[in-house]
Amino acid sequence: MKLVRLFKLLHTFYFVFCSSILSHAYASPDLSSTLTVSKNDHQQTLTLEQMKSQLTTHEIIFYHPIYKDQRRYNAFKFVDVLKIYGGLPEGAKHIFFSSIDGYNTSLTTKAFKQHSNAWLAYEDLTSKDGNTFELFERQGKSFDPSPFYFLWKDPDTYHEIIKWPFAIKEIKLESIKDPYAVIAPKPNSTKKVKSGYKIFSDNCIFCHSINLTGGNIGPELNLPMNITEYRNDKFLRAWIRNPEPSFRTDIS
Ligand code: HEC
Repeated sequence: MKLVRLFKLLHTFYFVFCSSILSHAYASPDLSSTLTVSKNDHQQTLTLEQMKSQLTTHEIIFYHPIYKDQRRYNAFKFVDVLKIYGGLPEGAKHIFFSSIDGYNTSLTTKAFKQHSNAWLAYEDLTSKDGNTFELFERQGKSFDPSPFYFLWKDPDTYHEIIKWPFAIKEIKLESIKDPYAVIAPKPNSTKKVKSGYKIFSDNCIFCHSINLTGGNIGPELNLPMNITEYRNDKFLRAWIRNPEPSFRTDIS
């Protein structure tokens, strides 16, 4: 009976006290969060506090396709963020984003210029769960977009994955044409090999690495053994056509 009482007590205590504490404990953004921007071989890290003192914060409102509701964010214009770091370097072809969980993604500067309504949010003013950014769930996992969430105010950009990276810790601006050249096939390789490489660098490299170049959400595909040495063609064909839903597939 004592146990029943304990549980009842716990229940009351938890709901009456903890939930009221929680509902008042709104987490304002951590001003010491940092963003590193690298331009070719030059690198600079700023805290959110430093960014706030140098940039105008805008309150942006739009329909968010993940939360499926109207959201308000405190955000910097992404072009303004780039300005602190001297803007896009001459000839830059890609903007790379590295996230805290190992997701690496890129955006072509061409796409960026076509839809320049891009923002770097640091606070979700509509967050209902007490976090700076409301967490969202996918396939049983919970994601926190903190500290920086790259957003497009135009939800039409959401049809392609990889375009709304969250939990960003680093942005890289590279002027080299093919940043993955180190793993590119040799110029005298067959057309098939080159086309496979293009598919890989357009679709898979954000999550998978080859010789440690690329993302690290999914397994490395060449070290210590190439994937084709331990998975047969049948498995690979089936997996690539219809992968088991992986946790970032439709969310960023
Ligand atoms: C959004 C991230 C993501 C993208 C993009 C992605 N993968 Fe994956 N992939 C994963 C994750 C995570 C796993 C591990 C899943 C598991 O073990 O349940 C995985 C597993 C695999 C496996 C199985 C590895 C093994 O050891 O069994 C293969 C093969 C694979 N991916 C190939 C690809 C290819 C080819 C592409 C591009 C066409 C691709 N993936 C794109 C995240 C991704």
